[in-house]
Amino acid sequence: MKRLVLALDVYERERALEIARETSDYLWAIKVNWPLILGAGLDVIKELKETANVPLIADLKLADIPNTNRLIAGKVFEAGADYVIVHGFTGRDSVNAVKELGEVIIVVEMSHPGAEEFIQPVADGLIKLANDVRPFGVIAPATRPERISYIRSKLRDGIKILTPGVGAQGGSAKKALEAGADYVIVGRSIYESKNPREKARKFHEELMGAI
Ligand code: XMP
Repeated sequence: MKRLVLALDVYERERALEIARETSDYLWAIKVNWPLILGAGLDVIKELKETANVPLIADLKLADIPNTNRLIAGKVFEAGADYVIVHGFTGRDSVNAVKELGEVIIVVEMSHPGAEEFIQPVADGLIKLANDVRPFGVIAPATRPERISYIRSKLRDGIKILTPGVGAQGGSAKKALEAGADYVIVGRSIYESKNPREKARKFHEELMGAI
């Protein structure tokens, strides 16, 4: 089973497709975020799926009223995204507006230092929201494996944990899985390396060895 998600945060379409082609053997999914969507356009989602033949996660971190979330997510699912990442703090009506259109992943806690200011203190409420809404998965921080363990201990069975923060942000892929994550998201450590394929292979093997 593959557990690596490539965060493809480059601007250029050609570069994105090339890295996707080189690394796809080791990926469970590719995650696109605003940099690539703004740089290459929404059609890059379909092109990436055709090139890499893996699921596509659109990391838009939607955080708007239900109607606007629905309008944005509709376009992104239509473009071929399999999962859309949404913020939970806007409330369950905003999250459900996206879930009515396709699979969602809810941000429960972020990986950067500033997450301790506002998001971490309300993580319990966001976990409860996830348990009620039953998304495909939640996002938890690889930079704080103890928080992954905590979130796993409170999360309803079957909800996946996807965890960014490995490599460039300092987190360990192996520790994240051991703490209870299902998938590890890696961006810069792969796409900025001289040999993205080799780097992806190494992460894949580390993840395989961790379980
Ligand atoms: P790097 O280059 O740091 O990229 O490996 C990580 C990717 O994941 C996103 N990211 C997050 N997304 N909650 C999220 O929903 C988080 O806590 C978080 N931390 C990082 C980041 O935007 C990049 O695409």
